[in-house]
Amino acid sequence: MGSLAVNLFGKKLKNPVMNASGTLGYGVEVEPLWAVETMGAYVTKGLSAAPHHGNPTPRVWEERCGMLNSIGLQNVGVHRFFSHYFPFFVERRCPVIVNFFGFSEEEYLSCARSIEPHDLVVALEMNLSCPNIKKGGIGFGKEASTVHAIVRSVREVTKIPLIAKLTPEVKNIVEIARAAYEGGADGLTLINTMPAAVVDVKERRVSLKGGFSGPLLKPVALRAVHECSQAVPIPIIGVGGTATFVDPFAMPKIIAELGSWLDASGLADISAIVGAAHG
Ligand SMILES: Cc1cc2nc3c(=O)[nH]c(=O)nc-3n(C[C@H](O)[C@H](O)[C@H](O)COP(=O)(O)O)c2cc1C
Repeated sequence: MGSLAVNLFGKKLKNPVMNASGTLGYGVEVEPLWAVETMGAYVTKGLSAAPHHGNPTPRVWEERCGMLNSIGLQNVGVHRFFSHYFPFFVERRCPVIVNFFGFSEEEYLSCARSIEPHDLVVALEMNLSCPNIKKGGIGFGKEASTVHAIVRSVREVTKIPLIAKLTPEVKNIVEIARAAYEGGADGLTLINTMPAAVVDVKERRVSLKGGFSGPLLKPVALRAVHECSQAVPIPIIGVGGTATFVDPFAMPKIIAELGSWLDASGLADISAIVGAAHG
């Protein structure tokens, strides 16, 4: 049996598989279906310093090759997550990556400051890429200068490893990746959703603007990971495919299939293929 274990920022994860932020609720929701600690880590829904109600409905739309969402980062707030939901992960010894955001630089700082180091908190994932909020998110993530500045500011207020989550909607994602790295990011998550829209032909109007995700995004994410991995010497978490919305059992299935693939490959360790794809 090959080992699926990986090391991320000095923390050992039982496998490299984790949910994309916002696609697995607060984790407790899947408990009746499968054990959340099956994953290498759980990534929180985007959390802010204060609870946020998000965008009005309708805010999801299914497309043939994926989905649009305009949730608008509805969340219970960072304090309620740690007081109410985090104990669930502690009980199960499930590592957690805390996805967070703000509507201003100060809000990013106050949210990051309020998260205490904990042996199960692997990293903070800074959402610089959500297209569904008017301020913050992608608003900070499109220019190398703003990415560098806000990553640097957050870096100064927390000792927890910091991941910058980037948007595909930029001219040169390598430039943005470098800016995040030089700002002090310890890792990158590539990619967030691609801004998109739905048109209601009968009503002759744009009925939903949001972020597109799904199978179509995967090759875009792979290209971003490939190019950025050659530009910055830090771990990159690849996201793109929205499997969980199609199949709620996608995560345990992917982990099982990865294990079978590893055994069939004869490799002793999944880390042997990290960075293996050249070209
Ligand atoms: C319903 C929904 C909610 C999301 N919420 C967040 C979020 O809170 N924070 C974040 O950084 N990304 C969020 N995302 C983006 C995903 O984490 C992911 O980056 C994106 O969907 C692309 O990957 P996928 O195709 O695997 O879903 C959300 C995506 C969806 C579909």
